[in-house]
Amino acid sequence: MIYNVLGDVKDLFNIDVDNISFKGIDLIPEGDFSYRILDDKERDEVIVNILKKIESDNKIVGMPERTDTWSKGWLESLEEFRKIGTPTSLIPRYMKPNQFMRLNRQFVYTNDPHFEWHAYQIFKLCLFTKYLKDFKYIYELGCGTGHNLLTLAQLFPEKILYGFDFVKSSSDLVNLIASKFNYNITGDLFDMLQPDMSKSLKPNSVVLTCGAIEQLASNTTPILEYLLSQPIELCVHLEPIYELYEETNLVDYLAMKFHIKRGYTVGYLPKLQELEKQGKIDILEIKRLSFGSLYMEGYTCIIWKPLKGQL
Ligand SMILES: C[S@@+](CC[C@H](N)C(=O)[O-])C[C@H]1O[C@@H](n2cnc3c(N)ncnc32)[C@H](O)[C@@H]1O
Repeated sequence: MIYNVLGDVKDLFNIDVDNISFKGIDLIPEGDFSYRILDDKERDEVIVNILKKIESDNKIVGMPERTDTWSKGWLESLEEFRKIGTPTSLIPRYMKPNQFMRLNRQFVYTNDPHFEWHAYQIFKLCLFTKYLKDFKYIYELGCGTGHNLLTLAQLFPEKILYGFDFVKSSSDLVNLIASKFNYNITGDLFDMLQPDMSKSLKPNSVVLTCGAIEQLASNTTPILEYLLSQPIELCVHLEPIYELYEETNLVDYLAMKFHIKRGYTVGYLPKLQELEKQGKIDILEIKRLSFGSLYMEGYTCIIWKPLKGQL
């Protein structure tokens, strides 16, 4: 059975597409959003391949050698952007085209090999327009190639944007994007595991992370302490959140196994929930988007704000 997702973005993400501004409409990627649920044989093959990947995968996040991997990866993107200079050269290399993916806790086959990327772009346009439009300063931590910052600059050219990452090739790339398109974006070095407490974020600002808290291998206390010490108004995360998977669902269970094997962060949401109990923050939204790669669901949305005077 073929479903049409684009016509039903509201149901998929439970976010009103009316939020997308005029500029955002122009940024909606063209893509084929039809898909079908796998038959039994295909599903068995997919599950066996995922189990093999979980057994053989040897990347562990947070290991010292991973810093070098990120540095080299973003250097390649920097060189490609220098040569080609188009936004597509900023699509991160970890976002591999694949027609098999997870959607609504099932494995599906999509006609568009870039379905995951395209769906993610549409969701971000809704999210950014709904939650970020009122802030003058936006900081993305762990910003990688800077593609989110480019989208933000296209949506809100009047805002002042910062992209922080712990490898220099990322901040060089962000600064190159800024100078090429003449956008108000600044790239800078920043290690979320050892935040420079002297680096002050501006009032009336929002902090964004996309697949970056996941990289901290559960060592999230330093960045939380840093964020709570700053005069920020809002934090928006798009991250894989282990605690929201359902252990009784096989598609989710495989993601949980993969998440633990890779060493992605666990325990971040419980820490936020504890801070909320202590009256230090208010969690405004916790939302699974229920789509992702074969291995994980990388885009759970958590939005919180510090409660001023409570820290
Ligand atoms: C999965 S990528 C996500 C990049 C980008 N946010 C995106 O949406 O494409 C993770 C990013 O986190 C960065 N990173 C990993 N550990 C970090 C740390 N301790 N401090 C700051 N950035 C870090 C990596 O260099 C990489 O750019």
